[in-house]
Amino acid sequence: MKKLNLLLILLSLVVIFSGCNQSKKHAPVKKELYGTYKGGEVYLLTLTNKAGNLLKLTNFGARITWLEVPDKEGNKDNITFGFDTFDEMIAGDRYFGAVVGRYANRIAKGKFTLDGVEYTLPINNGPNSLHGGPDGWHSVVWNTEIPEKTEFSTVKFTYMSPDMEAGYPGNMNVEATYTWTDNNEIIIDYAVTTGKKTVFNITNHAYFNLHGAGNGDILDHQLVIKASKFVAVDTFLIPTGELRPVAGTPFDFTTPHTVGERVGENYDQIILGKGYDHTFVFDNNEEVDATVYEPVSGRFMEVISDQPGVQFYCGNFLKGIIGHGGKPYNYRSGLCLETGHYPDSPNHPDFPTTVLQPDETFRSRTIYRFSVK
Ligand code: GAL
Repeated sequence: MKKLNLLLILLSLVVIFSGCNQSKKHAPVKKELYGTYKGGEVYLLTLTNKAGNLLKLTNFGARITWLEVPDKEGNKDNITFGFDTFDEMIAGDRYFGAVVGRYANRIAKGKFTLDGVEYTLPINNGPNSLHGGPDGWHSVVWNTEIPEKTEFSTVKFTYMSPDMEAGYPGNMNVEATYTWTDNNEIIIDYAVTTGKKTVFNITNHAYFNLHGAGNGDILDHQLVIKASKFVAVDTFLIPTGELRPVAGTPFDFTTPHTVGERVGENYDQIILGKGYDHTFVFDNNEEVDATVYEPVSGRFMEVISDQPGVQFYCGNFLKGIIGHGGKPYNYRSGLCLETGHYPDSPNHPDFPTTVLQPDETFRSRTIYRFSVK
């Protein structure tokens, strides 16, 4: 009899504990073959959170390719740029949702010097090198891991970037881990090491339109960036070295302003940038570094980062790209908030350093959080 009681107690404990685990368990990550590229398999990975909201990723460029969240009425829509098929993705814009490296943003004339050695990079943007050259991390096939026993759906992409890839020294091991939480947060964790002293700058290049991707422009989006200064640039979007105070300029987003309100102003940096295409220097004295609110849908996005700045780009070069569901991504129909270091830092010793040493691990986190109000 005693034995039976003990057995019953043990059995109920097993039931209770497995029940607890059950309620904590997230939906499994769905992994489908999406295409092949230079002999590598490309997958489409679907992460579903507790509310049934979807984040889709692909290991081609470690990209975000779909983000489906509700508006204030509960209607769900995809709010990031991407393509229905892999063929369209490789034929389309290079950077939608991608992890960009080795150096996100521009390096003047594609040259920098490290310990007396001059390095030469591919030129792919006017006279400059942009986003790690034409075959940067946005266009390589990353390895895909789906870690088990995580609290939320998680995908880890890894890539070994060989010494002198795109002209940069050092074998680099790169990890970009995406977590899709029940609080509608995309958490991106980067971890990077190098075999030789090098420079690098990593970001995610997702475009957002809180009306829904392909549903008009982003000029009515209300933006806040907690930045008292921005990086002034020349006509090729290369920093002049000046960190200019935003006060009294169209770059003051310390209080909410729509993107469209001052984007047409006759102000030197607006003219040089053809709109907003500048790095804002985070004040870094609050948790949330930037927010975007779109009043029609009520969608609200928060950006949290440990990086020194963010490239706010309002889609000035977008033109006639056909994305998900045949919808057009036109001029200023999406905005990017690319967290990271300033452009051309290797040629500006007074900017925060982008040097990585062989005994260091670079770790950084950026969070995009979505809600409605
Ligand atoms: C942004 C950059 C823009 C444009 C875009 C890619 O990061 O600031 O000038 O090059 O990438 O189309």
